[in-house]
Amino acid sequence: LENGLARTPQMGWNDWNSFGCNVNETLIRQTADTLVASGMAAAGYEYVNIDDCWSTKQRNASGDLVADPAKFPSGMKALADYVHGKGLKLGIYSSAGTTTCAGYPASINYEQRDANLWASWGVDYLKYDNCGDHLGRSGQQRYTAMRDALAATGRNILYSLCNWGQESVWTWGASVGNSWRNTGDIGGNWYSIMGILDQQVGKDSYARPGAWNDPDMLEVGNGPTDTESRAHFSLWALLNAPLLAGNDLRSMSAATRTILTNTEVIAVNQDWGGRQGYKISDSGDLEVWRKPMSTGAVATVLLNRGGGTATVTTTASALGLGSASSYAVRDLWAHSSSTSGGTISASVPAHGAAMFLVTGGGTPPPTTPPPTTPPPTTP
Ligand code: DGJ
Repeated sequence: LENGLARTPQMGWNDWNSFGCNVNETLIRQTADTLVASGMAAAGYEYVNIDDCWSTKQRNASGDLVADPAKFPSGMKALADYVHGKGLKLGIYSSAGTTTCAGYPASINYEQRDANLWASWGVDYLKYDNCGDHLGRSGQQRYTAMRDALAATGRNILYSLCNWGQESVWTWGASVGNSWRNTGDIGGNWYSIMGILDQQVGKDSYARPGAWNDPDMLEVGNGPTDTESRAHFSLWALLNAPLLAGNDLRSMSAATRTILTNTEVIAVNQDWGGRQGYKISDSGDLEVWRKPMSTGAVATVLLNRGGGTATVTTTASALGLGSASSYAVRDLWAHSSSTSGGTISASVPAHGAAMFLVTGGGTPPPTTPPPTTPPPTTP
């Protein structure tokens, strides 16, 4: 969506994967504090997103949604002020139907009223789910109605579509939202992550600045092992996925924090050109993925889906680089550099990945990013 937002994939956190309906203002404040204290904010994480279950079960007499006073006693405006005071942004959630998935009131037929309310609170991000009665309308109609309502508020609100890939959302999502979920829900285990990965094949050409495929939020540190979490993070970065942490940041391990703040991997995700990565080969459990970077370098993930350590190999030529006697190879997890005559290879543990940035072979000199469209001014 050309609203000036998400020129690179959005980064932040969402409560759903760890907390489900147990959301409240203490959690949101402590998470905002931790985003700053952990170094995640400095690494680019910006949005603190509230998911389902934040409202009361009924609208008020004037028809407005109401933040549950037991969960948010200070109110949403105060919470937005707190989050903004940390240099971060606040996200809210609703659904393009009569109810949310957890049965709370949602926004079909109330699009402008709800968008105005969120804008008055200072909300910066909307995740818009697909539950409740759709009143006979298509997804494209229902999601477009909220796009227009958000635009009419005059506030810059990042718009995240969550219709689980229905109606081939990737074919129309770029004109409606800043990102679109293209699968059902992720779970905190390797098989769920790999199942979602398989559903990304063939969708890369639809992504561009302001418009991203969303393979769902991160499960790093929320079930998978550290090795699995590194592979998951590598792949989501290469796919230009929104990087929304889904773990409890307040109690994360040092290893989890190190994964989430790997700035060399994040830089692949946040490359200004916005070209999504894709799979170039697979052989049994071993896969090679590539993402062309705006500098002319190529990022690659060597993935081992199997149950034992394996050597995964590709070549500079397979990655699309021109011929050269030597290539610079940067290991984005070991943070070490080496050179190669053309073979890129790694011993990869079970359920693991290696990630490299390969440069050489007629790589053009780095170009400067195009001027970004300035976001519309918020009154
Ligand atoms: C379904 C969505 O896909 C999830 O990410 C989450 O928002 C839940 N609904 C909340 O009910």
